Amino acid sequence: MTKCILATGGAGYIGSHTTVELLRAGHSVVILDNFENSARDALASIPKIAGGGKIWLAEGDVRNARLVADVIQRHSVDAVIHFAGKKAVGESVADPLLYYHDNITGALSVLSAMRGTGCKRLVFSSSATVYGDVKMLPIPETAPTCSSNPYGRTKLMIEEIIDDFVASTDDFGALSLRYFNPVGAHPSGFIGESPIGTPNNLFPFIAQTAAGMRDMVQIFGNDYETRDGTGSRDYIHVVDLARGHVAAVEHLLSQTTNILPHRKVNLGTGKGHTVLEVLNTFSKVCGFQIPHRIVPRRPGDVGLSLADPSLAFGLFNWRAELGLDEMCRDHWRFQAATNEPRGRRRTRLGAEARWANRVWEDFESLGIAEGRNALA
Ligand code: NAD
Ligand code: UD1
Repeated sequence: MTKCILATGGAGYIGSHTTVELLRAGHSVVILDNFENSARDALASIPKIAGGGKIWLAEGDVRNARLVADVIQRHSVDAVIHFAGKKAVGESVADPLLYYHDNITGALSVLSAMRGTGCKRLVFSSSATVYGDVKMLPIPETAPTCSSNPYGRTKLMIEEIIDDFVASTDDFGALSLRYFNPVGAHPSGFIGESPIGTPNNLFPFIAQTAAGMRDMVQIFGNDYETRDGTGSRDYIHVVDLARGHVAAVEHLLSQTTNILPHRKVNLGTGKGHTVLEVLNTFSKVCGFQIPHRIVPRRPGDVGLSLADPSLAFGLFNWRAELGLDEMCRDHWRFQAATNEPRGRRRTRLGAEARWANRVWEDFESLGIAEGRNALA
């Protein structure tokens, strides 16, 4: 079953890993991205890592519904995975209108383009943040939802918009995937996440401390009701997460019934790790102890978050396979490669044009058809 998948935000952290896995599964991929939080040159690695495959790039904004419809039509897209959007919790608190505007408009644009073109399979990037401070552990999809910040509320609102849209159509199928804590990088070391500025999340902060870019890791609280008192999370390797998308989209595409529900599905491992466990494992893979100290709890943090991942296995036969060792090893490999004096990747939007030009040349030599001018 070879299909053409549109990945909005496909140049980003999760989108790029998913594109690799889609290509490896034999699908072709169109990436629509405006590079506001990703680098063009990371894309050049994708066909190398995937070992080939058909990939196109449309540079532009997902909020432009005509552009999305044009891309869907030109490439006869069978399904859309909608990753594109803003994702920083703190920024969403500081500028909620930006988040409501961008994330909701992006989703509306994707849905209206799909309606207009007859493309009827959608996978949406949701988040475990929709569960807020739920007390049910592990968390099933039936747990009550309630988000404590504007970013999380955009995810809840979009899930509801998709509910209403699916209810209004006959044979539109959608899955919202609620990711727990995505971490790690591709084992090749070529793609991974490079947060701009000081990272808020644990893994990038540890990695940057190990790389000497930060003095020490602050552990936010050691008085939670967990094994060692530090906060516990369900970390999931980004490659496992990417494979979950392939399984999800193939499941949707295999459905032939007329009435398809909009399912919300957790993507997690069902295993929790505390901050100290992550720190010790990361120290083990780096080969030295990463400096750290205990500080008071971070406001708004929950002590424990853990997925019940059984629905994903029941629905599309997916379960996470990689453990904490692989998450730390691959995250560190990417961080270490990024720190090479002549880093071989990762310029961000706004970097010098000479870089961008060289990258576009790389695309051509790799056979990536570049459609930004034709489509934007
Ligand atoms: P990312 O920022 O690395 O990737 C998002 C991509 O979308 C980027 O390449 C960015 O340039 C692009 N983009 C943003 N706005 C756009 C627009 N208007 N038009 C076109 N492209 C646009 O983020 P990610 O970590 O890969 O996350 C992908 C999705 O998963 C997001 O929707 C995010 O909210 C969700 N999610 C992420 C996490 C996480 O921890 N990374 C957890 C839960 C949910
Ligand atoms: C955060 C976001 C969540 C998002 C997720 C993505 C908040 C409130 N929540 O969740 O919306 O989906 O990232 O992965 O921002 N920790 C430290 N020191 C640090 C950083 C973190 O001790 O420097 C601890 C935290 O207290 C927590 C754990 O590490 O116990 C994980 O934190 P983090 O990576 O920020 O993820 P979440 O808080 O789960």
